[in-house]
Amino acid sequence: MANPRREYRPDRLYPWEVQKGLATRFTGHWIEYYAELPSTNRRARELATGPASPPEGLLVLAEKQTAGRGRLGRSWFSPAGTGIWMTLLLKPAFPPGELPKLTLLAAAAVARAVSAELELTPLIKWPNDLYLDNRKIAGILAETAGKAGAPWEYLLLGIGINVNQTAADFPGDLQEKAGSLRMSLGAPVDRITLLRRCLAVLEEEYVYARENGFARALAYCRQYSLILGRRVEVKSGDRCYRGKAVAIRDDGSLELLLDDGTGAAGIATGEVSFISPY
Ligand code: BTN
Repeated sequence: MANPRREYRPDRLYPWEVQKGLATRFTGHWIEYYAELPSTNRRARELATGPASPPEGLLVLAEKQTAGRGRLGRSWFSPAGTGIWMTLLLKPAFPPGELPKLTLLAAAAVARAVSAELELTPLIKWPNDLYLDNRKIAGILAETAGKAGAPWEYLLLGIGINVNQTAADFPGDLQEKAGSLRMSLGAPVDRITLLRRCLAVLEEEYVYARENGFARALAYCRQYSLILGRRVEVKSGDRCYRGKAVAIRDDGSLELLLDDGTGAAGIATGEVSFISPY
């Protein structure tokens, strides 16, 4: 039975609702909210390269994206009101080579937030995907942006989380591959509470890494890896590697023990698929 004392709240990610009780120092203190937008990453890039200097922690949020973008030029299915589609602007004082580790940090933070809030344990498919029940439930699109001459002024952390879709909500090509928190939990999820938790954990991991390095975030990615110990194929640029995934190195790269017997390879970034036997 519904709790009669529970305050009615529309299922919209309104900034004033998100910010109520938000336990962060700067993340999400400024929110641009849209009912519909082509892509939150695109809007965040406009802000980062425009005349105003947006503050660190600014969040672009949309209920629906009409041109949501995934990695490697793919599109990201972003229907209205069922997911969390957001881009967080950060101004990291890290060298550009740290971008792969920031992607892993974001994946670890979102996985931690989901575990803390829902008692589900997403696994991380290096470098940027979250899985539950062998279905992708979230992805990270980390990009850099800045004014002319300052290419690394901003990090645009684009995060897409499938929250309340049912299997039937996904289009044909995603039916077998995509999942949602609701599908794994068997019940709808409060998007605002989850979003608040994501922002708090993201900030906590980011501030921690700024002061202490990435070891903690990387340890989480190793502990909850979907791929370590399995045979995989990794497409990276125009190269394709096959072998057993044996480590996520301290620089964030994936180490494969190659099938062709030539030893180990470190891969900075790529697209992983599984091959049997594993
Ligand atoms: C991937 O797995 O390929 C990354 C998906 C990232 C999707 C998010 S949704 C919010 C943000 N805006 C976008 O256009 N993309 C990212």
